[in-house]
Amino acid sequence: MASLTWLDNLRNDLQAVLDRDPAARGKLEVFLCYPGFHALVAHRISNSLWRAGFRIAARLLSQTARIATGIEIHPGASIGTGVFIDHGMAVVIGETSIIGDNCTLYHGVTLGGTSWRKEKRHPTLGDEVVVGAGAKLLGPIEVGRGAKVGANSVVVRDVPPGATVVGIPARITEQQPMGEPAPEDRHWKRDATVGAVDVVMQRLSALEAEVAAWSGKSDEAPDEDPMVRGGDPSTRAQRLKVIEGKE
Ligand SMILES: CC(C)(COP(=O)(O)OP(=O)(O)OC[C@H]1O[C@@H](n2cnc3c(N)ncnc32)[C@H](O)[C@@H]1OP(=O)(O)O)[C@@H](O)C(=O)NCCC(=O)NCCS
Repeated sequence: MASLTWLDNLRNDLQAVLDRDPAARGKLEVFLCYPGFHALVAHRISNSLWRAGFRIAARLLSQTARIATGIEIHPGASIGTGVFIDHGMAVVIGETSIIGDNCTLYHGVTLGGTSWRKEKRHPTLGDEVVVGAGAKLLGPIEVGRGAKVGANSVVVRDVPPGATVVGIPARITEQQPMGEPAPEDRHWKRDATVGAVDVVMQRLSALEAEVAAWSGKSDEAPDEDPMVRGGDPSTRAQRLKVIEGKE
C-alpha cells in the first residue's frame, strides 16, 4: 500500500468515484453527495486517532460517520488509496480488515470476522479488487489482486489473484489475464454441481454404449449388465427383453 498524505488520499478517493461511477458528474457533486466518500474521509481521521491511541474518540467518530452514511468502518481497519464505496448503505468493515489500493465495494458488503479472539480475523483485499453488492467475505481470508466477487456471494476461502468468484459458498467462474495464475487449490478446482452432472453424463454414456451393444450396433455385448438386478440373462435377446420390460 502506498504511503501518501491525507490530501493525496482525499484526491485519489474523489477521482476513484469519477473514474468508476458513470453517474458522477463532477468533483463538487462527489464531495457533497457521495456517502462512500464521506465515510472514507471520516475513516482516515478516525484511523489516525486510533493509531495515536485515542481509541474512544476514534470509535465515536466512526459511529457518527455510520449514522450519517450507513457505512460502518472500524477505525482499526487499514484502507488503501483510491477506494470507492458505491452507494454504501449497510457496508461493514471489521477491525482487522485490510483493503488495498483502488478497490471498489458496493452497498451491503461485509468484511466480517468468524472468530471471537483478538487476532487477525477479517479479510485482506489486494489492490483493484471489486466486491459486488451484498457480498459477505468472512474470516482472515485473502482476496488476490484484481479479483472480483459477485453480488451476494459468500466468500469463506482465499481467492486467487484475478479470479472471479460467485455463489454461496463462492466458487471461481473464470481467471482474468492479470495477476498470477490460480494455485492448484482443491477447494477452487471444481464446482460440486458441475462435478455431479459430469458423473451422470459419464454414466449415461456407458449405458448408451451397453444398449448399443445389446441392440446389435456393436459387435460384442458387455460381460456385465448393470441394469439387470437379480437375473443373469445369457443371451442378447433375453437381455433386450429384460430392458424392454417384456420379461
Ligand atoms: C461477478 C461479476 C463481477 C462477474 O462479471 P463478469 O466477469 O462479466 O462475468 P459474467 O457476467 O460473464 O458471469 C460469469 C458467470 O457467473 C455467473 N454470475 C455472475 N454474477 C453472479 C452472481 N452475483 N451470483 C451468481 N452467479 C453469477 C453468470 O451467470 C455466469 O455464469 P455462466 O458462466 O454459467 O453463464 C458480476 O456479475 C457481479 O456480480 N458484479 C457486481 C456488480 C454489482 O454489485 N453492482 C452493483 C451496482 S449498484
